[in-house]
Amino acid sequence: MSKLEIKDLHAEVEGNEILRGVTLTINGGETHAIMGPNGTGKSTLASVVMGHPKYKVTQGEILLDGNNVLEMDVDERARAGLFLGMQAPAEVPGVTNSDFIKTAMNARLEEGKKVKLFAFIKQYDKAVQELKMSEDLPHRYLNEGFSGGEKKRNEILQMKMLNPKIAILDEIDSGLDVDALKIVGENVTSMKHDQLGLLLITHYQRLLDYIKADKVHVMMKGQLVKSGGMDIIERIDQEGYDWIKQEVGIDDERVIPKDDKELVTIGTCATKEALDL
Ligand SMILES: Nc1ncnc2c1ncn2[C@@H]1O[C@H](COP(=O)(O)OP(=O)(O)OP(=O)(O)O)[C@@H](O)[C@H]1O
Ligand SMILES: [Mg+2]
Repeated sequence: MSKLEIKDLHAEVEGNEILRGVTLTINGGETHAIMGPNGTGKSTLASVVMGHPKYKVTQGEILLDGNNVLEMDVDERARAGLFLGMQAPAEVPGVTNSDFIKTAMNARLEEGKKVKLFAFIKQYDKAVQELKMSEDLPHRYLNEGFSGGEKKRNEILQMKMLNPKIAILDEIDSGLDVDALKIVGENVTSMKHDQLGLLLITHYQRLLDYIKADKVHVMMKGQLVKSGGMDIIERIDQEGYDWIKQEVGIDDERVIPKDDKELVTIGTCATKEALDL
């Protein structure tokens, strides 16, 4: 049974506290969604779970099936079954897509074992077809020259191949046209099973039209300030976030107030870092 437990997690970057006490449990078979305005700490949470070295955890715990994730290196986390589909996937010239995924899959096997080439190609081709991606993809360099939508599909392709226990998908819907959104949504839904815990970070209800979430959380100021069902999303879609800010008594929902600092978008890939690409 997969279980990710995040307990009272605090984390900072460059001396600024971004996460200020996040508590969340995701069991295998469950789909959770985190929504929240820009700059409230959503991607930071994803990066901290995957072990991005820029973030310093100052308090709290992350456990995967009872094991201490904070003691694991980035590659150990990937091997333990954590996966992050990034908001802004990096381009890696010089490494082909198929080599990248094969290396990531090999890294998850016991020492000395390797994925079987024929089985790999079959699985890869099937995934490319299911995601309606172009067939020259395996030979192209990782994300290089990919359109925004192609990069997002490529994240889902990696998820299909790696078959994680816990998958965090950070704004997997951004940049997708309506048809691509449907394809990605249906593919993610088809991957659901009772051992997979899914965390979707999104701004829009439309993603959740395709991937049903069991629980919805709203992040503000580095905390999950409200949790509930799909009804929360409908209200956010119609009314925005003011009613939640009022409910919890927050004026400025960002972690770092607007005038303090330009917002920075982060793009990290734990698997790529683990592989030292
Ligand atoms: N590596 C970093 N270096 C400097 N500041 C950072 C870093 N990562 C995050 N921050 C800051 O932390 C705050 C939260 O950022 P984060 O990317 O987690 O927000 P978010 O909720 O994902 O926003 P969005 O909805 O726009 O993606 C922002 O003010 C951001 O500038
Ligand atoms: Mg983000």
